[in-house]
Amino acid sequence: MHTYRVGDDVTVLNDHLEVPGLGFLPVNAFVLHAREPVVVDTGLSLPDRDFVGALRSVVDPATIRWIWLTHPDRDHTGGLFELLDAAPNARLVTTFLAVGIMSTERALPLDRLYLLNPGQHLDVGDRTLHAFRPPLFDSPATVGFYDDKTRICFSSDCFGAPLATPELAAGSDVREVPAEQLRAAQLLWAAVDSPWVHRVDTGRYLETVRSTPIIDADTVLSTHLPPAIKLSGQLTAMLADAPQADPFVGPDQKALEAMLASFQPAGSGV
Ligand SMILES: [Fe+2]
Ligand SMILES: [Fe+2]
Repeated sequence: MHTYRVGDDVTVLNDHLEVPGLGFLPVNAFVLHAREPVVVDTGLSLPDRDFVGALRSVVDPATIRWIWLTHPDRDHTGGLFELLDAAPNARLVTTFLAVGIMSTERALPLDRLYLLNPGQHLDVGDRTLHAFRPPLFDSPATVGFYDDKTRICFSSDCFGAPLATPELAAGSDVREVPAEQLRAAQLLWAAVDSPWVHRVDTGRYLETVRSTPIIDADTVLSTHLPPAIKLSGQLTAMLADAPQADPFVGPDQKALEAMLASFQPAGSGV
């Protein structure tokens, strides 16, 4: 995991995961250095990751006031319970549904919660965070937000892209990825992560694209993409194309067996 700054107000805690056959998927969490500091998501749930340790190099956990969980997938909840312990002054911004999903593994402390739905907002001292449902999502609990001071949009899984190399996945500016390569990778991710997009009424889906704050954002931050600065037009054009993208079909058992056979050491005779 490494950290870098986007402008004056945001630190990215960047990690990535290799997805066989697809590429290297960035996995970002963020610190929004508002008057009341906000941590956005808490990284991968792999045992060798130390999210809170990485966070300590960025901000004193005792000063954190809000932990915004965009949705309870395990690439977003890795450091959550450790962070709740390390940040006793923080409340967890989430939804009723996310609390229910989390309770199937480990119950969240109800007195630490702050339930917030799309369309509502959160005052964090020097700015207001406007909650919204991103146009593409893989969990019904997903809530992103728009920071009206910096005009930064936090879009959760929306806009993700498996990239060609670990270096690109660790990049601090998505413009390092050639534009056509980026568009193809984002459409692939849209098909993988939001397969329902091929089945929606396109007109109504496009209304959701137009009604989000993404269009007005100076910077879009996705969990699964390097920061996108001044690219709202390009990003919304990609969203508009997502319903027509090729559906994703994952490898089947035959493909798995071929892959496993390719791992056999030469001459093993198995
Ligand atoms: Fe997700
Ligand atoms: Fe995710």
